[in-house]
Amino acid sequence: MTSPHNTLNLPRALGDGLVLRLATEADIDPLAEFNGQIHYEDGEPTGFLPTFTRVLMNGQHPTMVAKDFVLVEDTTKRKIISATCLIPQVWYYDGIPFKMGQPELVGTNPAYRRRGLVRLIFDTIHQLSAAYGHQLQGITGIPWFYRQFGYEFALDLGGRRALPIANVPELKEDEAEPYQIRPATETDIPALIHLYQQCLEGKLVTTPMDEARWRYELSSRTYAIQTYCIINDQQRIVGSCRGSAEVWHSEMGLWGIVVDKGVSLRVVLPGVTRKLKAHGEAYLANHQDSKDQEQKLAAIQFHLGADHPAYQAFDAKLGPLQKPYGWYIRVPDVPGFIQHVTPALEKRLANSVMSGYSGELKITFYRGGLRLVFDGGRLTQAEDWASQDSRKDGGGAGFPPLIFLKLLFGYRSLAELRDAFPDCWANEESTLLLNALFPKQPSWVVQMV
Ligand SMILES: CC(C)(COP(=O)(O)OP(=O)(O)OC[C@H]1O[C@@H](n2cnc3c(N)ncnc32)[C@H](O)[C@@H]1OP(=O)(O)O)[C@@H](O)C(=O)NCCC(=O)NCCS
Repeated sequence: MTSPHNTLNLPRALGDGLVLRLATEADIDPLAEFNGQIHYEDGEPTGFLPTFTRVLMNGQHPTMVAKDFVLVEDTTKRKIISATCLIPQVWYYDGIPFKMGQPELVGTNPAYRRRGLVRLIFDTIHQLSAAYGHQLQGITGIPWFYRQFGYEFALDLGGRRALPIANVPELKEDEAEPYQIRPATETDIPALIHLYQQCLEGKLVTTPMDEARWRYELSSRTYAIQTYCIINDQQRIVGSCRGSAEVWHSEMGLWGIVVDKGVSLRVVLPGVTRKLKAHGEAYLANHQDSKDQEQKLAAIQFHLGADHPAYQAFDAKLGPLQKPYGWYIRVPDVPGFIQHVTPALEKRLANSVMSGYSGELKITFYRGGLRLVFDGGRLTQAEDWASQDSRKDGGGAGFPPLIFLKLLFGYRSLAELRDAFPDCWANEESTLLLNALFPKQPSWVVQMV
């Protein structure tokens, strides 16, 4: 079988000694240095970006290899001047697995910017992603930029509330910690998988965490995050959480927390926050820069999305919600994706007032569109469709290009989209169908880095 990389016809000369090509293992050190320079943000734990690049390329990563980096080299100077990688993954849509690719570490040397190098690299990344059989690409990136390459914001990314250090509950003198909190090890993976499953309940788009992924999370720690097990007095694991391993901008982060049913987050959280506070203070004591003023731990950020039970449990102690940013999503073949998730759509239709529907739903995207055909509640066809004259045959609903993705991924309701976009509309029957097929629903997507 041809490998996805062999379909790309690379390397390709771009003129002036520039060459577009796939990376090899010989590029690990130069790319680690390149990414360390291009992407470094003030206050970031040092060494993170080079280590991250090496892990992505040296066989330690569960899904990515060196040649998943596409780069441009200036051969006259023998240096890398632009690069991006693609991290292959499997995500779920309402329980249905699908393949996706995440472009990461997008960067160009300042002296070579605005010459179309990233645009060119993205064409290649999209070809590579298609050759892998990915049905979607998702990227967490700078504002607006990726819209140029066919992406639209369609899933929440981040969202947080801060716990000021002064609000971390103190243990009373005669009180013992009700739960033990210790770093997780590989033998805990079955428990971690079981607990993680609970985070996914009621969520639409989800990222699975199988054994390989957990092994990676526990071993590489590229993002300087430590996973902990929460243990009760019978030595049973009743929860898990993920906390920053390093202080960043005077803050520790709580990146996830889940407890078994029947265990109270309100009782677990004080000990978890004490643990993170103690870790952060110890870290700072070991990493004070003598030139700087003494750095103090200011807060524990609960990086738990737009909504989370931990926000309820600690509501009075936490600052206001810092709203989520967004994942940029690209779906090159919308009818193909809809066909793939047909069982989920048919289930929703059957549970709605449109149960057993026969007929067609035509949606214009102004430039192109989508036609869905139903027969007795079954989705029998999903195909591209374009009206000849949108005033005469605009179908039953309309969305400006790509805005439909927000509905497809449960990110916004039809009513919200109609409020936001005057050129988004639906007639009565289409409104009922779209509401049944694509209700607003939260997702739980964990970045694979
Ligand atoms: C953002 C960045 C990757 C762009 O790289 P580049 O090689 O200059 O990009 P391209 O020349 O291929 O630009 C593609 C298009 O975006 C435009 N563009 C480039 N940089 C832009 C920016 N910062 N904001 C908006 N548009 C930009 C270009 O003009 C071009 O449009 P055109 O084809 O209509 O002329 C580069 O500036 C960079 O490395 N920045 C620092 C790291 C970073 O922020 N990376 C992104 C992390 S998600």
